[in-house]
Amino acid sequence: MRLLVTGGAGFIGANFVHLTLREFPDTEVTVLDALTYAGSRESLSEVADRIRLVEGDITDGALVDELIAGTDAVVHFAAETHVDNGLADPAPFVHTNVVGTFTVLEAVRRHGVRLHHVSTDEVYGDLELGDPARFTESTPYNPSSPYSSTKASADLLVRAWVRSYGVRATISNCSNNYGPYQHVEKFIPRQITNLLTGRRAKLYGSGANVRDWIHVDDHNAAVWRILRDGAIGATYLIGADGERDNLSVLRTLLTLLDRDPDDFDHVPDRAGHDLRYAIDASRLRDELGWRPQHTDFEAGLRATVDWYRSNESWWGPLKADVEARYAERGR
Ligand code: NAD
Ligand code: TYD
Repeated sequence: MRLLVTGGAGFIGANFVHLTLREFPDTEVTVLDALTYAGSRESLSEVADRIRLVEGDITDGALVDELIAGTDAVVHFAAETHVDNGLADPAPFVHTNVVGTFTVLEAVRRHGVRLHHVSTDEVYGDLELGDPARFTESTPYNPSSPYSSTKASADLLVRAWVRSYGVRATISNCSNNYGPYQHVEKFIPRQITNLLTGRRAKLYGSGANVRDWIHVDDHNAAVWRILRDGAIGATYLIGADGERDNLSVLRTLLTLLDRDPDDFDHVPDRAGHDLRYAIDASRLRDELGWRPQHTDFEAGLRATVDWYRSNESWWGPLKADVEARYAERGR
């Protein structure tokens, strides 16, 4: 299969490329990535001779058309993804997440190419703390932030292109991922690399907010399952029953790094901070038989800490700039 992976130099996309070459070595992989601050050639250096990496923007209609004309399927990861950045400047989120997805959709429509669109559970808004409810595929969209509203817009475009033009697309909405190659602006890698560089861990607000953590390889295995066996036009939620509040994740990280679990800074909360996300992945489990493999969250975190310890050359050059940006925002 010839596969085009947009955003393949980012966190989840790069892990997807590695998993693809491990598990489906006959796949011909082309990555289209603008190599923004969030993308890194180094994340693909181990497989550089086995893939084609095209540096370009998903809103470049001519380039996207040319690449999609020569492929069998597209897995669309490229996006602006950090909520705090979207609050500071939403323009790139509208550009990439909305106009970029539109550009990809028009090309798959012209060429009749299969598309899998990767999205987030944040499109559903948030749930109350302590409520047993979880998101399902029929939960109404209710996004809170520039990030989640532009991802929701992209999802709605995909749904409309399926219905109006018969585009062969599927959508997945996944919960929070962790694992190697995640940018140090995100919660888990930020805390690990703060502690590895003599900085202090930073918790937004009280830390009561709940995220539903999943290992990136479990997410990507689910994407492959949907790409091969998913029903055209369907949406699948991806989650691994990994609900944890931020404070307990932070304390686990502090303990894994041999620190006092209460030795961190409280910093000002995020505007509009979503309280809780939680996924009911029954459809994916029942219809496609997917099961997560990384069910021990603490073991997954330990392996992630080890990866950051061993790969300072990957994240070290990014760290000072990210922390300078956080300092400007008082966090
Ligand atoms: P990331 O920010 O690490 O990577 C995004 C990649 O997209 C980068 O390589 C970047 O260079 C590229 N990119 C950005 N704008 C582009 C453009 N205009 N043209 C081409 N490439 C561009 O993001 P991630 O965490 O790997 O997320 C990947 C996808 O998964 C996103 O669509 C995101 O919404 C979704 N998702 C992420 C999570 C999570 O926990 N990280 C959870 C659910 C869904
Ligand atoms: P993040 O990784 O930005 O993912 P998202 O907001 O898309 O879920 O943040 C995860 C949670 O961690 C979120 O509730 C905000 C919180 N957080 C902190 O407490 N401290 C931090 O330094 C960061 C970056 C996030």
